[in-house]
Amino acid sequence: MDRITKKLFTQAKRVRQNAFAPISHYKVGAAALTKGGRIFSACNVESATVTLTTHAEAAAIDQAVAAGERTIVKIIVVVAEKAPVFPCGLCRQKIAEFSGNAEVIAVTMRGATRRAFIKDLYPEPFVMKNLEK
Ligand code: THU
Ligand code: ZN
Repeated sequence: MDRITKKLFTQAKRVRQNAFAPISHYKVGAAALTKGGRIFSACNVESATVTLTTHAEAAAIDQAVAAGERTIVKIIVVVAEKAPVFPCGLCRQKIAEFSGNAEVIAVTMRGATRRAFIKDLYPEPFVMKNLEK
């Protein structure tokens, strides 16, 4: 693992400890590296409504955008499974909207890793241009 990925991994693992997942008991930590070189991390937060649940990757991107960063270059997602798990379809859509072609790194707590580019995981996102009349 390269230096920056290690840093993302450490932060995602740390924030995963704060995941609020009383419904699924499935805790997720994510850390996003922006074009400006900043790192934003977040965890999943479940809601009693279920549908209001925030996903770790989406929350990390929201924080980056709130800080004025609109391009994600790398995003790491950490779960405590045997094998790494890539983001869900909703998160793939969101990553695609805020990246040129971000690298998505899925890692387990023990460090088993899978890497892919968002264009391969989600080749045809719905984009703002689709809203133009
Ligand atoms: N979850 C994420 O945080 N990111 C994903 O992309 C997959 C799902 C969360 C939502 C919910 O709290 C739990 O994992 C189970 O779906
Ligand atoms: Zn998701």
